[in-house]
Amino acid sequence: MTGGTRGAAELFRDGVAVITGAGSGIGLGLAERFGSLGMTVVAADISRDRAALTVAAIKAAGGRAHAMTVDVGNAEDISCLAASVHDRFGDVRVLVNNAGIETVGFTWEISADRWDRTLDINIHGVVHGCRAFLPRMIASGKEAWVANLASVGGFGQMPIQTSYIMSKHAVQSFTECLSLEIELAGAPIHIASVIPGMVRTHIFDATEADEGAVAVAHRTAMREVMAAGGMDLAKASERIVDQLAAGAFWVSTQPRMTRTFLDARISFLRDQSRPRLADDLMPIFADMPVAT
Ligand SMILES: NC(=O)c1ccc[n+]([C@@H]2O[C@H](COP(=O)([O-])OP(=O)(O)OC[C@H]3O[C@@H](n4cnc5c(N)ncnc54)[C@H](O)[C@@H]3O)[C@@H](O)[C@H]2O)c1
Repeated sequence: MTGGTRGAAELFRDGVAVITGAGSGIGLGLAERFGSLGMTVVAADISRDRAALTVAAIKAAGGRAHAMTVDVGNAEDISCLAASVHDRFGDVRVLVNNAGIETVGFTWEISADRWDRTLDINIHGVVHGCRAFLPRMIASGKEAWVANLASVGGFGQMPIQTSYIMSKHAVQSFTECLSLEIELAGAPIHIASVIPGMVRTHIFDATEADEGAVAVAHRTAMREVMAAGGMDLAKASERIVDQLAAGAFWVSTQPRMTRTFLDARISFLRDQSRPRLADDLMPIFADMPVAT
């Protein structure tokens, strides 16, 4: 299904947009963008304070927004969010399953709890977001959008971010199959996989008090890469919303970067080669404090 020639200003000038992880980064950027177009934004975040700041920014710019608290790593929490949004605001026109976390370190140095938490938020948060919201969206019979946050990393390989990378491969696969399911169901819902390249956000800020030296070094290196080469949030958000309006399945902030990752993936699969660190990623690991 495509959005035809209708632009974002026409398609998203009213209705309800629900965005998880809207308290920071891409979720914040998308919330502000949808708010500026005229949608009623539900800014849902695990941090009530951050969601409230997003709402304040949207209102200050003349928009409509409401803060809600949700832990997307908890299926019951998302079900409550969906019911509450429907009761208070009616049909949802746009759902963005955006909340996600980075977990860094060697696989064997990350606790079982942190592994579970990463997969619960990054994978199950997206799955349960769709499970919770789609039945009412389908029942309404109205045109709607569901956008799931994948990543260029969802096509690549990256040590020290293994749980994150595998979660993004899973989100991409989930979203592809979901798109086919919606087509089979005949619902007028656009399904999109949003593939940010590198956008300046807080995702590499430390979250665990007891991270080891490798994790600390990697977060520092990635924060520097992001500060130096990350795309501006407002620009990335505008690009995402415009591609959603166009009915795209593949929604990229940096299409050339997406292409590079896809080409590398295609070669890897075609040649059945061994996993290898991409040349441009090598500097990130050059100063890694690895015991030898
Ligand atoms: N920034 C990038 O370059 C980039 C690249 C590829 C993919 N992504 C994806 O974009 C999405 C947003 O990332 P970001 O970079 O804006 O990160 P961010 O850390 O700046 O923002 C994430 C937000 O999600 C919220 N959150 C975390 N756990 C939550 C939970 N359990 N329930 C609800 N909210 C929760 C946080 O409070 C925060 O407000 C993620 O899915 C991420 O994987 C980002």
